[in-house]
Order: sequence, then structure tokens, then C-alpha cells
Amino acid sequence: MRKLLLSLLVLSLLTCGQAGANGKSKALYKDAKAPVEKRVEDLLSRMTLEEKVYQLNQYTLGSNNNVNNIGEAVRNVPAEIGSVIYFDENPQLRNELQKKAMENSRLGIPVLFGYDVIHGFRTVYPIPLAQACSWNPALAEQASAVAAQESRMSGVDWTFSPMIDVARDARWGRVAEGYGEDPYTTGVFAAASVRGYQGDDLASDKRVAACLKHYVGYGASEAGRDYVYTEISRQALWDTYLPPYEAGVKAGAATLMSGFNDISGVPASAHYYTLTEVLKNRWKHDGFVVSDWCSVVQLVNQGVAADGKEAAEKAFMAGVEMDMVDDCYQKHLPVLVKEGKVPMKLIDEAVRRVLRVKFRLGLFDRPYTKEVKPDKRFLLPESLFTVEKLAEESTVLLKNSGKLLPLSGVKKIAVVGPLAKNQADLLGSWSGHGKAEDVCSIYDAMVREFAGKADILYAQGCDFDGESRAGFAEALTTAKQADVVVLCLGEKRGWSGENASRSTIALPAIQEALLVELKQSGKPVVVLLANGRPLDLVRIGKQVDAIVEIWQPGVAGGKPVSGILSGRVNPSGKLAMTFPYTTGQIPIYYNHRAPARKGSQGRYQDIPSTPLYDFGYGLSYTDFQYGDLKASAERVKRGDKLTVEVAVTNSGDRDGQETVHWFISDPVCSISRPVKELKFFEKQPLKAGETKVFRFQIDTDRDFGFVDSDGKSFLEAGDYYILVKDRKLKIRVE
Ligand code: BGC
Repeated sequence: MRKLLLSLLVLSLLTCGQAGANGKSKALYKDAKAPVEKRVEDLLSRMTLEEKVYQLNQYTLGSNNNVNNIGEAVRNVPAEIGSVIYFDENPQLRNELQKKAMENSRLGIPVLFGYDVIHGFRTVYPIPLAQACSWNPALAEQASAVAAQESRMSGVDWTFSPMIDVARDARWGRVAEGYGEDPYTTGVFAAASVRGYQGDDLASDKRVAACLKHYVGYGASEAGRDYVYTEISRQALWDTYLPPYEAGVKAGAATLMSGFNDISGVPASAHYYTLTEVLKNRWKHDGFVVSDWCSVVQLVNQGVAADGKEAAEKAFMAGVEMDMVDDCYQKHLPVLVKEGKVPMKLIDEAVRRVLRVKFRLGLFDRPYTKEVKPDKRFLLPESLFTVEKLAEESTVLLKNSGKLLPLSGVKKIAVVGPLAKNQADLLGSWSGHGKAEDVCSIYDAMVREFAGKADILYAQGCDFDGESRAGFAEALTTAKQADVVVLCLGEKRGWSGENASRSTIALPAIQEALLVELKQSGKPVVVLLANGRPLDLVRIGKQVDAIVEIWQPGVAGGKPVSGILSGRVNPSGKLAMTFPYTTGQIPIYYNHRAPARKGSQGRYQDIPSTPLYDFGYGLSYTDFQYGDLKASAERVKRGDKLTVEVAVTNSGDRDGQETVHWFISDPVCSISRPVKELKFFEKQPLKAGETKVFRFQIDTDRDFGFVDSDGKSFLEAGDYYILVKDRKLKIRVE
């Protein structure tokens, strides 16, 4: 009998909780020492359907700064709500809502606070497209860690980033938010940013949960427009759009966001195959999927649901666990459960996933954010150092005729153009809580960089667009007084990002006209470009001596490029997205499939068929000589591993950094494959005169194999080629 009583006591402690100091039993889910899964199950077992459904909804808190998403005014957020998008930059408001959740809701479940921290919270760093051009994922990881720290200290637990939509249409404004056109590169940066955001311990007060978005295929938006249809075959899903997500999931991303796009007739937010079959069943992702803003109710617009109720059913049953702001789950899930259209066990599974992330973030144990003054959170010296380095390495030198750069022996530099003294637009789109005043303008940076060496003259010349040439004369006079003209052209921050498509990727005519005007000075012209997408530079390119692509560098502003112009910094960025010859070539990308006819057939009659600047292109102030490719074996069996290497020599007289891109090609296969596919890259510093060996460890299945339209991997016997620059090496798989 005593034994039985003892076992009952132990059981009750295990299931209901332990006796606290005051004799009251403490629920197991509140015990910080209990394993997460046990806490989740305990809490789940105590929840009503209504409480469960609340966990699957996200509202907003604070004033929304995304112009595309002006929803209802800030609501009276219920204490039980699962999550909010948090628009404030200080933690007070968060703590108030959290207090309400912890103290006024029956079970005290903390709210999860999310926000779009895309490339920095306050310390804004280069846009993701620029980051990819650095080919330095370790630096991108550090930058994400800076963003994570600032976010968590400001009351944000969860960022809606990284955006890893492979994109090949530069008209689409959201190319700025992703890592370019290549699935492998995007996957490497996806993993790096997940590591930077999440670290090893989500519960750390310096880390946030990541969110891979927009799952999946949103980058294939037709004609580069936003929110539209995407025609994506299953083969293309597996070849191109899914791989970065798999890399992000493997890196441990806590959450994903489902896309706005319709994937060949089934919208991404109602796509069972990708959301459940692939993500949950095959990849075993155990976090949750949040819809994009209103992407549940938008299923009605997309023609697959009659009303919000059917939209809720379709999105939920497909595998979207949390509904961002459109209230469809809140309104309809309880009824759908009662009607037997949504099984209770799926509700439980969805809630389990949300709670799991909250427990992992430590929200139950430390729900509040310590209130620390802004100067202890933002723009810390080490954060600014990371941003500046990343911006330096993201900058791509596209043209340098007669080695005009770095500038030497110049006494007067005319800094001209709409971007010369601009600060706000160098932040780029989705700049979080970044402020224009944090950015060092190009003009200010040039004055500092060249202090005591050259005078910096200034004229604006023209605005970003419009027709006014009123400033042209002054700009020309200024150019005539100088030894060299640095012309700062580009895009406003709102010209890229969400809902920011352009029908042409050329710069507005007024900017090109300013260049023509300045050419009359007879002075050499360096064009600095700040923009959120590849540009059509065909007219500009011919007229200028040098072009430097600085993208949108964030708060580092003009400092990195000034260092490049002076020679303090040797540029090392290379393009992660092809620059088309003109808009008419879009879509154009390096890893296309081979055409049926070669040579002059299938070409445009009016323009070349090759791009202006290829994927991987970028100049340095030094020269790198590549040796022959060498392999540890040239005949291998399936499953073998081998090493290929190439010796690279810095043959110039400046230290520099070189990125070696390792491509493979499989010219004969049972399905056609891209003409070449990037499989590995590595960046290394090389001192002047130094030789270093770059190595690629090949795993034959991983690197030579291909996937079919259901994601199954195959490796066929035959000849494969390793391609590095103009070097080629054959490997035979037997
Ligand atoms: C965007 C997402 C973003 C969300 C929340 C949507 O309009 O597509 O990328 O995370 O809004 O702001």
C-alpha cells in the first residue's frame, strides 16, 4: 500500500508539477529545468481549443512602418495571442504586453515578438544581395549576429529573415533582399545568417529565431512583378528553389514563412507538398511556418478558396501553422474543428510547434526584456567595424580602364550626383530602425579619406529622376575645376524591396544625361552606383573610365568606397547576380540549360546574347594567376571522395583577396542539367607575390549527382568536368 501511495505521489509530481515552497504545485511547463518536449506536452494538455487557436495567430503592436501592409489600426491585443509583429524599437511596450500575457491570461503563455530585421535592426548593414557579393559568409554571419543582439535587446525575439528566394529577374524589387541567382550561394548565405541570428542557444539574450522566407519559389514572380503567379515545374522546385531552404533547415532555422506566390496553380501558402510532405515529413523540420502578411485570406484572391473560412482550412491543412494578421485562423479554426474539417490532432501538432519555439527561446523563463539605454544597444564600435568590413567586401569593381583606380596624384576631386550627399538611400529597403543620420554620406567620407591629400568639390547635378537639368551647369563647372569626377548615381531605397518592381533596370534618363554633360569636362569619370538590383549599364559603361558598384551599404555609407578610391582598401567583391546587357535579356543567369542550337542561332538580332557582367565577375587592384587544376584522382567510383586543387598567385604589387568559384558540369545525363553549377567557393587573402592553394573536397554523390522532380538523388556514371575560371578538368565516375 505504502509503495502504491509513493508511486502515485511520484506520478503526480511528474504529470502535474512539483510542490513549490508555498506548498502549491508548480506546473511542469513552468519548470525551467524540465526538458522542452515535456514542458510542451504538459502545457498542451492544459489548453482549451480557444487558447490553442490564439497561439496560431499573429497580430501587430506599435505603428507599422511597411507601407505595403497598412492593416487595421493597432488593436487591443488579447493577452492570449500567440505572436505580434513588434514595430517599436524599445522594449517597454513589449514588456507591457508580455506582462499582460504572463499575468492576465489563464496559463501565462508568453507572446512571441517578431519583426523584419532584414539587414540590421538599427546598425543597418549591406543589403543581402550585396552580402552575397562579398563571398564571405563568415562576415555575413557576424553581421546577422549584430542584428540579433540589437533585436533581442530591443524586445524582438524573432526576425523574418533570411529571405532566400533565388531570383533571376532584376526587375523584381525583392532581388535586393535575397542572395542572388544561384541556389548554392543562397544556401550558404542562408545557413550563415541562420547561425548568426540563432547561435548555439536560442535562449541567449543576444540571439533571435530565424525565419526562412518566402517558402517557396516567390523569386520566380512573372515579369518581375510582385504578388503574381509563378510557373514552377517540380524539377525547377528541386533544382533551384528548394535547395537554399534545405540548407537553412539543416542549419537549424526555427521557422519559415510561406510565400504569396501561386506555384503552378497551388499557392505557396496552401501547398501541402512543399509545406508538409517536403518540409515536415522529409526534412523533419520541427519548428513552425507563419503565413506571409495576409497570404491566408489572399487565397481567395488567388481563386482557390471561396472565403476566409475555406482559406483558413486550406492553409492550415497544407501546413501553415501561424496566420499573420488576417485573422482567418482566429475566426474560423474553432468552427472548422467543430465541423470536423480540421482534426484536433493537427491543431495540437501546430500548437506544439509554436510552443516548442517559444520554449527554446527561453520566453517562459525570461519573458521580459531588460531595458537598456539605446547607446548601449545600438551602433556599438565593434558592430560598426563588422558593417564596414562587410560593405568593403561587398563592393564590386566593374570597370577600371587604364587602372584609373585607385586615384593617385589627384589634387581636386569633384563628387557629383544625387547620391553624393544622400544618407537615407544608402540604407536600402527594409532598413528596420535604421536612421539616415547614422549613415556617413559619400561626400563626407571622401572629405575624411582624402584630408590633406585632395580637395573634395561638390555639385548635386540632378535628382534621382525627373527632368530638371537646372543643376547641370554647376556640375559641369565643378567637374572642370577637378582632376577627376566621381559621379554618384543609383536608386532610391524605395525603388527596390517589396512591391517595387521596375519595367526597365536602366537608370532614369536624367542620371544618364548628367553623365553626358560631365563628359564635356574632358575629365576622367568614375561612376559609383548605389542600387538594390543589377542595372542596365550598357550606355553608361561605354562612357566612363571606372565603375564601382557599392549596392546599398547601410550605415557604413561612403566610407568603404572612399577607402577603395584612395587605395586603402583593395576591392574583392564579385557579382552574385548577372548584370544583363539590357532589360530585354531578362531572365538571364549563368546556370541555364544548354540550347538546342549553338553559335549564332537563337541570338537576339539587336543585342548580344551574353550579359554585360557575368555572375562571379569583379576586378581587383592586383592580378591573380591561376595554375592548372589538379585532382587526387581522375577516375572515381560512386560514393568516393576526392580533392581538386588550384594554386593561385597574387602576381601584382598589392595585397588582395581572391574568391575561387568551383563549378561542375555534366554534359551528358538522363535529364538535361545546367551548363555549369557552382558547388563550392572559397575566399582567401593573398599578399603581393604570395601563392596559395585553394581546395575543393568533392563528394561524388553530393557534387556530381542530380535530383529528379521528386527530389530523389541520382549519380550516373560518366564524365564530369570541374571548371574554375578558364580551367577545366575531367573526372570520370565509373
Ligand atoms: C512581406 C514579408 C514580411 C511581412 C511582414 C510581407 O508583406 O512579404 O517579407 O516579412 O510582410 O512585414
